[in-house]
Amino acid sequence: MSWLTRSLKQSIGKKFVMAVTGLFLILFLFEHIIGNYYLFAGPQAFDKYVGLLESFGYITPILEITLALFFIVHIIYGIWLWLGNNKATPIKYEVNGSKENASFTSRYAIYLGLLILLFLLIHLYNFWYHYRVMDYQLYETIKELFANPYYDIFYIFTFIVLGMHIHHGFQSAFQTLGWNHPKYFPFVKKFGTFLAVVFALAFSIIPIYFYFVH
Ligand code: HEM
Repeated sequence: MSWLTRSLKQSIGKKFVMAVTGLFLILFLFEHIIGNYYLFAGPQAFDKYVGLLESFGYITPILEITLALFFIVHIIYGIWLWLGNNKATPIKYEVNGSKENASFTSRYAIYLGLLILLFLLIHLYNFWYHYRVMDYQLYETIKELFANPYYDIFYIFTFIVLGMHIHHGFQSAFQTLGWNHPKYFPFVKKFGTFLAVVFALAFSIIPIYFYFVH
């Protein structure tokens, strides 16, 4: 086992963990946006969707714990890698060989990630805690929160940040995993940008809809 712990502590091992957990979290975002779009079909349709998730019995908490672990590992390894980069070189964040080559989203990936973490803590308190622990009605909670323009601005700001984080993370993950063939990598980069824009827009439509339509 020691080769495994040793590799996971090395920079490339940490980047590997970041890549795998990051791609998994993108998959979660797909599931989450599809589920959230039931909101547009009204409270009954949304409750039916949430009920369906709960009907999986033990599988639901197992999936939630797995998701939480992926988030925690992604965050811890991100901070660890960033601290290591800072110590190893006077150039703060290096991608593609030089600081000049690094885009804004890659150079500030750690700060974008920490903003998403702040959002997650607030988001989980608002929705997950109130629903799972306090037994609030989810649809009504969402309606009430998004009636507040400050919340809407905060959420939309985070979705833009999330898009920027994905823009960097998607291509970086492919590079780390060695899936960067010169013929296909330009497509990977374009697809990452496409995903980033789609997620930012698709999530932002929800608070906008609740603010203006409800
Ligand atoms: C307008 C956009 C969003 C809405 C309306 C929304 C709504 C919700 C709701 C209602 C829940 C509770 C579901 C349950 O416990 O069964 C939830 C949970 C959660 N959300 Fe969101 N969410 C949004 C965006 C996001 C984003 C962008 C992320 C990630 C960066 C995220 C991460 C999570 C996580 C990790 C959970 C807990 C896991 C779960 O219970 O499925 N959410 N969200």
